[in-house]
Formats: sequence, structure tokens, C-alpha cells
Amino acid sequence: MSRILLIVGGGIAAYKAAELIRQFRKEGHEVTPVLTEGGSHFVTPMSLAALAESPVYTSLWDLKDEAEMGHIQLSRAADLVVVAPATADLIARMAAGEANDLATTLLLATDKPVVIAPAMNVRMWQHAATQRNIAQLKADGITVLEPDEGPMACGEYGPGRLPEPADIYQRLEKILPELVSGRGTTAQSDVVEGPLAGKHVLVTAGPTHEPIDPVRVIANRSSGKQGFAIAAAAAQAGARVTLVAGPVSLPTPGGACRVDVETAQQMADAVAEALPADVAILVAAVADWRVKAATSKLKKSDGPPLLKFAPNPDILAMLGERPDRPTLLIGFAAETNDVVANAKGKLASKKADWIVANDVSGDVMGGSHNRIHLVTKDGVEDWPEAAKEDVARHLISRIAEELE
Ligand code: CTP
Repeated sequence: MSRILLIVGGGIAAYKAAELIRQFRKEGHEVTPVLTEGGSHFVTPMSLAALAESPVYTSLWDLKDEAEMGHIQLSRAADLVVVAPATADLIARMAAGEANDLATTLLLATDKPVVIAPAMNVRMWQHAATQRNIAQLKADGITVLEPDEGPMACGEYGPGRLPEPADIYQRLEKILPELVSGRGTTAQSDVVEGPLAGKHVLVTAGPTHEPIDPVRVIANRSSGKQGFAIAAAAAQAGARVTLVAGPVSLPTPGGACRVDVETAQQMADAVAEALPADVAILVAAVADWRVKAATSKLKKSDGPPLLKFAPNPDILAMLGERPDRPTLLIGFAAETNDVVANAKGKLASKKADWIVANDVSGDVMGGSHNRIHLVTKDGVEDWPEAAKEDVARHLISRIAEELE
């Protein structure tokens, strides 16, 4: 059981806070809601109080509330502070360290982990000012749940939607044990040694699965072995490792923090949530396309389905563009022909620092060995064929050298 202080900002998505409270309560957590002035235009304190079975705090200047539980105490009594929805305005005030209402005062006074779920119009979300503020909050140690992409209340389409409460809960659950035990996502209390000590290394691995209907997926042959071996080697070198894994049945490498995902979109969200990172190594074989999945099983009697494909986000290219781009951004290129030429093209088009190119025309996918050409801005290194674990160790020592 955790005690959650839920701050509800003033956006159309505030109505989802009611469902989020139900979700928290169903899972056995205590929720104390705090409603901003803006939030109270979208949901009433009464409905949040009824669902939370707790008083709802709204004002810094409420003498009765202040006498019963002062704002400093309120900010410390929780195990975790969740802001959902976090509006552009609230995010800006948090980034600036303002304390001009109860929500921002609590956020400034708390000594507990803070997770925010932003929700706003797509242009507001993509605006340089919002992205700057988000980067600042991440640098301050706040966990940011990436907004969903889709049609918005304002009629536009894109990222900015508040994820569904069940999804928010699932994402929180992955980080909750770590957060609640007070270790936070950026603090590392244990003293670790090794050439990558103090560095955060983000690795993607495995395939993605794009559902067609509830029982069928579009998959690929990636086994995840090379990515997992790299995550293991990075952890052995002392790095803090986040391993975002597609559907594979491989054991989690010791010391790595694993986030399991299924689709390319979920992988993109998990990667964005794991930032900032010093090094990102994108080994996953991400599906370039997804289809709009049918909600019930497609029947043979209905004839062959016509699948309409839509592009998936390119995670590597997305990282190459971000203001909080990792210092060293490394992609993989699985090619069956013109291996080095194709890799050079990807280095430029995805704004990566290195591309690890491998020839997958044989049994590399699923196999135990790999032959690598490391393509950097300075040239091409041809590595001899080696076991995937040895390739991983060699790559990690090249990375350590580069960061020096
Ligand atoms: N990648 C990614 N997101 C995607 C597609 C690829 O992050 N949607 C990353 C892979 O993890 C890898 C690199 O981009 O690090 C190159 O992947 P690859 O599949 O070889 O390249 P594509 O861009 O998909 O090009 P193509 O399939 O045409 O070769």
C-alpha cells in the first residue's frame, strides 16, 4: 500500500483523474487529491473526495485545512506525488520553481518522488518552451510519463493526450517499487565502479509486435540476444542500465532495469520516459509499420483482410532530434546487402553518432555470433566475427573509450 498525493491540473483530461483515483484505490493505495484552481473548472472536489474517501485540498489559503494539516506536512505525508493531468502552465511553473498555489507549493516542498503525466494540445506539447521545461523537470529528477498520440479534444492529432488511467497505473507500477523505496530514478546510492560508473546507458532490444487483432501480430525474427548481451556488458562496466525489451523470453541481465513493451509506440514511450541518458544503444528491430488492429478476431470466412499500414515512430531518429539527446547515440543496422553503404545512410539520416552494421543475410538473427562494421563519422572499423557476448563487451569498451 502506498500513499499517493494526486495533483489534478486544469485541462480537459482532468475527468480521467476520477478513474485514476478508482484505479489506485482498487489496487489498495490511499489517495489524497489536490485540485488546482483550473482543475476545479473540469471536476468538482466533491467527486474526487467521494472516490478517494479523503478530503480534497484546493487552496493554500484555507485556514481550516492549514490548521488540520499544514502544506509542508501534506507534501511529506505521501510516498509518491503524481500530477495528472500536468498542464503546460503547471509544468512551466514547476520548471521555474514557483510556489504560487497549493499544488506548486507542495511540489516544491516535497521530499518524495514526483511523477507527472502531461496532457495538452499537440502544438503546446511540441513547443520549444514546453520541451525545455520538460527537459528541466527530468534533470531535476522528476519522472515524466510521455503523453499518448491520437485525436485530441481540440480536433487536432498528435502526441498530447493523457494516457488511459489503467495505462498510467501500469506504467507507474513499473517504477513504483523503486520510487516508493525512495531510491528515485536518478539517484544512485550504491557506489559502483567500472569504466561506465555514474553513466546511464539506455538499450532497446528484441523485436516489436504490432497487433492485427486480439490474437495475431506482425513480428520479426530478432531474438534480443545482442541487445541483452550489450545491456549485461554495460551493467558489468558499472553503468546504470535501462533495458527496453520487446517480446522475448530472455532472463534480465543482472543489474539492468528492464521495461517490457510490445509495440513500437510503447517502445518509443518507454525510451522517452527513460531519458536523460548518457548513451543510448538502439539494438531493437522495430517494426516500421503498424496496422489499426481489429477489436475482435478476424474470421477466415470473411476472406483475406485488407491491412492498412501507418508509419511507426522512428525511435533512433526521434532521439537524434531531441534537445536532451544522449551524448552518444548508437543505432544498429541490420542489412542483407550494401551493408556499409546503407549504414552510412542511416548514420546521416537518423543523426546518430555511430551505426553498428551487421549482415543479417545468414543466420545472425537468432544465432549466437555477429560480424560487425562500426560506422562512425571518422570511418569504418571491421570487427572479426565473434560471439554476441564478445561483440557486446568490445562495443562497451569502445563506448567507455569514447566517453573519456
Ligand atoms: N529504429 C528505430 N525505430 C524504428 C526503426 C528503426 O529506432 N521505427 C532503429 C533501430 O533500432 C536501429 C536503426 O534504427 O538502431 C536502424 O534500423 P533498421 O531497421 O536497420 O532501419 P530502418 O530505418 O527501419 O530502415 P530499413 O528498414 O529501410 O533498412
